[in-house]
Amino acid sequence: MGAVTVITSGKGGVGKSTICAALGAALALRGKRVLLVDCDAGLRCLDQILGVGERVVYDISDVAAGYCEPIRAIYSCSYAPGLYLLPAPSQHDNTVAPALMKQLVPILARYYDHVLLDSPAGVGSGFLTAVSAAARALIVATPDPVCLRDCDKVRQELNKNGITSQRLIINRFSYSAFFKMKCYEDLDAVIDSAGVRLIAVVPEDTQLAVSAAQACGFRQKSPGAKAVGRLAARLEGERVPLPSLKKL
Ligand SMILES: Nc1ncnc2c1ncn2[C@@H]1O[C@H](COP(=O)(O)OP(=O)(O)OP(=O)(O)O)[C@@H](O)[C@H]1O
Ligand SMILES: [Mg+2]
Repeated sequence: MGAVTVITSGKGGVGKSTICAALGAALALRGKRVLLVDCDAGLRCLDQILGVGERVVYDISDVAAGYCEPIRAIYSCSYAPGLYLLPAPSQHDNTVAPALMKQLVPILARYYDHVLLDSPAGVGSGFLTAVSAAARALIVATPDPVCLRDCDKVRQELNKNGITSQRLIINRFSYSAFFKMKCYEDLDAVIDSAGVRLIAVVPEDTQLAVSAAQACGFRQKSPGAKAVGRLAARLEGERVPLPSLKKL
C-alpha cells in the first residue's frame, strides 16, 4: 500500500501544485509509481501542469459517484513515465465528500508507491476532503510572516483531523530577499514560527515555474528541481543534508 501524503498550505499561491507535480515527477524518476490526486475542485490545475488537460473526460467526482471505474479517470503523464493523475472536478460544487475519499483513496493506494493529494489553500471544505484520506502532511509556506501565521492554523487543523505527521517545505526561498526582509534572523526562526519540522527548502526558481507552465517536464538540473529531488529522497527515507542556503 502506497504512502498517502497531502500537500497543503494556509495561504494560497505558495506553490503546492507546482511542488506536487515536481515531487511526483521526481519520485517517478526514482522508479516509483505515483498517483497525484487534484483536490482543488473548481480550480484544478495539475492536469495542465502534467500536460493531460485536453485528454480529461472523467474526474474524481465521477469515480466517487460511481459513473466510471477509477482507471477511466486516471491519466498518465507523457513526460514522466510512472506518474499518473486523478483530476479534480471542474466545478467546486462537485467536491468529493471526505467520507467518500476515505473509501476511495486506500483502494487506489494499493496500486501505487505514493499518492500525493494536492489540497486547495486554507482550511475549508476542499482542505477537509484532501486531508481526510492522508496519513501525513507536507505544509508549504513561503518564508514571510503572513504565510507562516497561516501555516500555524493549518498545523492545528491537521492535528484536529488526526494528522500528526507533518513536515514543512519552505518554498520560493531567495537568500538575498530573505535577509533583506529582516523579519527573521535565520531559517531556525522561520521553522520556530511555523511550529513544524522542516523537510525541504525549495529556492525561487524561474525554471520550475516555466516547466509547470509549459507542461514540458521538470529540468532536473535546475535548483528548484534539485531541491525537490532531495525532498523525494527524504520522503523515501534517505538522509540527505540541507545544502548551505547560499548554494541552494
Ligand atoms: N520555487 C518556485 N520558484 C518560482 N516560482 C514558483 C515556485 N513555486 C511556485 N512558483 C510559482 O508560483 C505560482 C503559484 O504556484 P502554485 O499554483 O503551485 O501554488 P498553489 O499553492 O498551488 O496555489 P493555490 O493555493 O491557488 O492552489 C505559480 O506561478 C508557480 O509557477
Ligand atoms: Mg494549487
